[in-house]
Amino acid sequence: MSQTLNRNGAGKNGPLSDTLRLLYAPVADEMAEVENILQTELRSDYPFVDELVRYGNLLGGKRLRPALLLLSAKAAGKVTREHCVLAAVVEMIHTATLVHDDVLDEADTRRHLATVNSRWTNEASVLLGDYLFTHAFYLASTLDTTFACRVIGRSTNIVCEGELRQTAARGNYHLSEAEYLEIIEAKTAELCACCCQLGAHYAGADAAVVDKLYGYGRDLGIAFQIADDLLDVLGDESETGKSLGTDLEKEKPTLPLIHLLENVTAEERAELVELLSGPGDARPQLGPWFERHQSIDYARSRAQHYADQALSAIRSLPSSPSADVLTLIAEFVVNRAH
Ligand code: IPE
Ligand code: IPE
Ligand code: MG
Ligand code: MG
Repeated sequence: MSQTLNRNGAGKNGPLSDTLRLLYAPVADEMAEVENILQTELRSDYPFVDELVRYGNLLGGKRLRPALLLLSAKAAGKVTREHCVLAAVVEMIHTATLVHDDVLDEADTRRHLATVNSRWTNEASVLLGDYLFTHAFYLASTLDTTFACRVIGRSTNIVCEGELRQTAARGNYHLSEAEYLEIIEAKTAELCACCCQLGAHYAGADAAVVDKLYGYGRDLGIAFQIADDLLDVLGDESETGKSLGTDLEKEKPTLPLIHLLENVTAEERAELVELLSGPGDARPQLGPWFERHQSIDYARSRAQHYADQALSAIRSLPSSPSADVLTLIAEFVVNRAH
């Protein structure tokens, strides 16, 4: 399968852009079923709650995690009804983390719409996030075994730890690349890995294949977050559909900045820290610094490295349209930041 992927995945006015619809073709029917499950599950008899949870289901997210789960299932065996339920579960968990994350980042746009915190309140966001987390676990518990609950519970815990560790690292301009990588592995890569693991496990794959797909999801998730962090510095809000620049605003160092700070003199570092700690958008002033030290290229090369590592993990899987798409997704996540 060969096709040119554009940089943007999220559809502006529908659940998926044409690019992603094409990409997810091998699991198109199952993805439609996941949307049905989300729509059926996320509703309430109380009009305000109903409005909020439907808004929470929303919008033009890329649905990357459900796709990873279903594609891993098909690449490793057979997709079942359980996979569709689990794909809805992981999307609920992901959305819950975003709704909470937008409170932390005081973001006003998400998936091309006003965030819950800006349209309603922080209180509504906290409670909607809780609702989505608890509903996700309720739904996972309807499966015959406790395996999925256990795996998803553990991963979600790691995601929360990652967000907490990132909050603790705010304003720490000595954060190392290794610490940054550990944080993004927890807050982002773990859930992607969990999706691939569940997909393969519930398809009846043997332990070695489950491990390979888990490794693919983890490295893909790291590449995805490095690239997404680059978009926070370089991207265009009308394309990404979410508030950008919040990492610098909230003093969360990401890879280009970490690279820059590790490659300047002590005097330059002091100058930069003053700029970063002060008010206003530092992005325009940082541009020439990044350019001089090739910090953007460096971060892109690290994203590429993890995407390549993700690909090596699944190289020995039998060839199939779904395995091909997993390869294309590794290309897609890095290309988003070019
Ligand atoms: C956003 O994830 C949060 C990060 C891990 C960077 P996505 O970019 O997958 O968000 P949606 O679901 O498409 O909105
Ligand atoms: C995403 O982190 C939060 C989680 C992965 C839990 P970011 O803060 O970088 O995500 P965006 O940029 O707001 O989507
Ligand atoms: Mg954020
Ligand atoms: Mg971000």
